[in-house]
Amino acid sequence: MSQGQFAPRWVFQPGDQALLIDRKGRRHMLTLEPGKAFHSNAGLFPHDGLIGQDSGCRIQIGSQKMLALKPTLAEYVQEMPRVTQVIYPKDIGPILTYADVFPGARVLEAGMGSGSLTLALVGAIGPQGRLFCYDLHQETIDKALRNLRRRSPVPDNLTAQRGDVYQAITEKELDRIILDVPEPWNVVPHAANALVPGGILLCWLPTVLQIHRLAKAFAQQPEFDLVDSFEVILRPWHLTGQSARPVHRMIAHTGFITTARKCAPGKFLRPDQWSFDLEPTAAAERPSEA
Ligand SMILES: C[S@@+](CC[C@H](N)C(=O)[O-])C[C@H]1O[C@@H](n2cnc3c(N)ncnc32)[C@H](O)[C@@H]1O
Repeated sequence: MSQGQFAPRWVFQPGDQALLIDRKGRRHMLTLEPGKAFHSNAGLFPHDGLIGQDSGCRIQIGSQKMLALKPTLAEYVQEMPRVTQVIYPKDIGPILTYADVFPGARVLEAGMGSGSLTLALVGAIGPQGRLFCYDLHQETIDKALRNLRRRSPVPDNLTAQRGDVYQAITEKELDRIILDVPEPWNVVPHAANALVPGGILLCWLPTVLQIHRLAKAFAQQPEFDLVDSFEVILRPWHLTGQSARPVHRMIAHTGFITTARKCAPGKFLRPDQWSFDLEPTAAAERPSEA
């Protein structure tokens, strides 16, 4: 057990998040404060009993044993207070990869919501990057920043501002723009001006009608090319000594990830080759016979 300024990073300190998991897999996340206690139906456990212990230790509350861990990012975003729908861990990884968020990147994110994606972006750009976050509501921004602060200090290279991303993007030379707003097609024209050559605009959207409309906006904007859209399906498996099978229930759908690249005007596909009929023609669907 070791405490204080020089404690190893795996040791619980005051202010840390602790994730408690019981035998049935029930989870509770708490912020450790000296003198406070965690109350469960099994009894009361003082936070001081955890401060100075290693992450991954087992504690006893009344007759109940619990596992105590420093939460991973994926665990944290699932347990943190939410003011909006959040981007789930299964989508966060692919968003960082397909938007190619690199250390040192200048990134704009809108809307900030509960800050789930913001947490991941801060880590991915590192101390040399810049993250500009927009949201319509100051209250939402404050709550998102609180979620960030609970996990670690909000870095100086993050600027969060109240703003309507449909109206304007004031920052220039952005490497990446990442949008989780309902109508990202409104952003496509000024995103083209704000991105560096080769920059990436990534949008997360829950419905197919939205991605269809977004694709149309990309087709009409000469600077955007290489439009791609996909969804991520994650199927967890149940593993015990007796069986190994997919779980019976899973989250079948969260949303679609659509990316486009800022390029010199002039597309590989001419606008008249883009078909936006809601019912695709049989010819458009048929694989090439060549
Ligand atoms: C679903 S939430 C985003 C959740 C966030 N990505 C997360 O993982 O926690 C959508 C957010 O977009 C904000 N929003 C909607 N329209 C916007 C706009 N035009 N400009 C900026 N923010 C907007 C909303 O206020 C809301 O907080």
